[in-house]
Amino acid sequence: MHVRPAKFFDENGRRLDGRLPDEMRPVDMKVGVLSNADGSAIVSYGKTKVLAAVYGPREPLQKYTVLPDRASLFVRYHMAPFSTEERKSPVPTRREVEISKVLREALEPVVITELFPRTVIEVYVEVLQSDGGTRTASATAASLALADAGIPMRALVAGVAIGKVDNVVVLDLNEPEDNFGEADMPVVAAPDLGLITLFQLNGVMTVEETQKGLDMALKAISELVEKEKQTLRSSIEEVDVE
Ligand code: CDP
Repeated sequence: MHVRPAKFFDENGRRLDGRLPDEMRPVDMKVGVLSNADGSAIVSYGKTKVLAAVYGPREPLQKYTVLPDRASLFVRYHMAPFSTEERKSPVPTRREVEISKVLREALEPVVITELFPRTVIEVYVEVLQSDGGTRTASATAASLALADAGIPMRALVAGVAIGKVDNVVVLDLNEPEDNFGEADMPVVAAPDLGLITLFQLNGVMTVEETQKGLDMALKAISELVEKEKQTLRSSIEEVDVE
């Protein structure tokens, strides 16, 4: 959407897509969606849809920095050319390089890399369809794909973006809210460890709004992590039955 909507809320306080300010979009999670990867997941938050594939731990095929005491974590976030309203060039942009870095930092604290010295664990995230919040949905998908690959983890992470639109703090921004709102605050956390592993703020919010937004994000992230656990459990049960 290239034009700012006239208003972001209707007379009942509902957003353009019918949600209340503290409501998540419908979330869908699946693991084991790719047979050629060691672990994989597809996650959607409404129209935002991302695919994550994990390989490893394995000996580096490319020239990664090999660490003597632990595995290196490599993360590549990429938007497919067809994922945006206007075709996106497949060439990685600075934005994608930066998001790859912050996603690696969001995942590193939960992966037990010390168990696999001199190896690499590769995480590829492909945005299939974007409607806001792709970095946070990517963190959720990567967490699931790492677990699906059987990589030992201290905890699972999940992410969601908070924003401020027409002076209201809202959960799980969609693209018009992200592009035309007053602030965008993506959060990734590991609730079981009490850790926030990604926290960014573009725009301006008061201290109170930031605190309120963080509380909303952490509540939603706990629910997302529970859903990750259920998704992983049911994938194991399916394998047991076969
Ligand atoms: O996706 P995320 O909110 O993590 O990152 P952003 O940089 O705040 O981008 C917000 C949204 O803008 C994305 O989710 C896409 O829907 C859109 N976008 C786009 O359409 N084309 C791009 N090259 C980058 C972003």
